Amino acid sequence: MLISNMLTLIALILAGIHFGVPLTYYWYAKKKWLKKPWNIKTDENYKPRVTIIVPTYNEAKFIQTKLDNLYAQDYPKDLIEVIVVDSASDDGTTELVTEWKTKHRDTNLRLIREEERKGKAVALNHALKHTRGKIVIIADVDATWPNNAISEIVKWFADPAVGAVSCLKKPVGSKTIEKNYRQYYNTLRIAESKAHSTPIFHGELAAFRKELLEKIGGFPTDIGADDSHTATRIALMGYRTIVPEGIVCFEYIPRKGYHMWRIRRAQHLLQHFTKVIKENKRTLKTFKMILRVEIYLHLINPWLLVVTIALLLASALQGSLTALALLLLGLVLLLCRPFRTWIATQLYLAVASLRNPISRELIWEKHTKS
Ligand code: GDD
Ligand code: MN
Repeated sequence: MLISNMLTLIALILAGIHFGVPLTYYWYAKKKWLKKPWNIKTDENYKPRVTIIVPTYNEAKFIQTKLDNLYAQDYPKDLIEVIVVDSASDDGTTELVTEWKTKHRDTNLRLIREEERKGKAVALNHALKHTRGKIVIIADVDATWPNNAISEIVKWFADPAVGAVSCLKKPVGSKTIEKNYRQYYNTLRIAESKAHSTPIFHGELAAFRKELLEKIGGFPTDIGADDSHTATRIALMGYRTIVPEGIVCFEYIPRKGYHMWRIRRAQHLLQHFTKVIKENKRTLKTFKMILRVEIYLHLINPWLLVVTIALLLASALQGSLTALALLLLGLVLLLCRPFRTWIATQLYLAVASLRNPISRELIWEKHTKS
């Protein structure tokens, strides 16, 4: 009896930490940072040349829509260069790009074909060598930008303190779990950006000052989250890497294989944060705090939940009614959407850390999107 009570008590303490830390961080970020001014001098008239890199692997379904989306941007056409870098697609993607180009001769579009698929980051580095813009923007195919996205992004770069800018994400599709997850994370991204910088970027729209990309040697090819890690390295150099409120991208969510898709993306984020620990550098106090919390939230916190559940199960098996009641309470709470979203996200992260030693998913399966 004594042992089962002890197990229940430890489980309760771990659960307290597991839910307490992210809630406290969220509360703190909202209260202290979200209302802060940006302290960045934007300029709507700042119009440098930009290069948009569109990486493609078997994107026949969406590539022309994406090119139309770029064509509809309100930024001056003569200042936009588009580079599509394709890694051996076999679904006709490159033919569709060529066809689109013949119909839009006023677009400065270049197609680079790689003979062999070596992953997104390798392709981005390949394209980077050919860019002429001052700002380089990564544009995943399976996402839509608002028509003023480039203008909205570029105005932040008028301030030399800004090194990189990304978007907020809104999911398109039926998975409500994804919508809840995004709401919580979008708020954190803006708050962290206002405090200094956010270490989580989105490949659906990730803009970088080209000279900084060159300084850090391009995109990392040994981890999956090329977007977040590149931004973090730039922030560690002292530049602001931000996600402002105004730019929302719509991302298509896969209909099939949703859980594997979430696990793979979690794997990439874990690779990113593990690499950040190794690259431990001196940096500003606020960004250091943000990094520490995010590293904790991704690498450690999910395991507290797993251990809590295991301890409660062990305790319940030993006859503890309290443990049984707590487990049942957890099950009932799963009916509540935000709680369910949270638990799912934690489990994706836990499974992801188990999968990383087996397969790092640097070249990943193409998911069918709705
Ligand atoms: N050239 C090239 N080569 N492009 C690729 C390759 C490749 O091997 N693999 C994927 N892409 C392209 C896709 O065609 C798409 O335009 C973009 O890269 C993103 O691929 P998705 O398959 O849509 O990835 P995701 O949305 O699930 O992954 C997200 O998270 C990753 C980190 O976990 C995105 O934000 C990625 O940008 C990010 O790296
Ligand atoms: Mn995608």
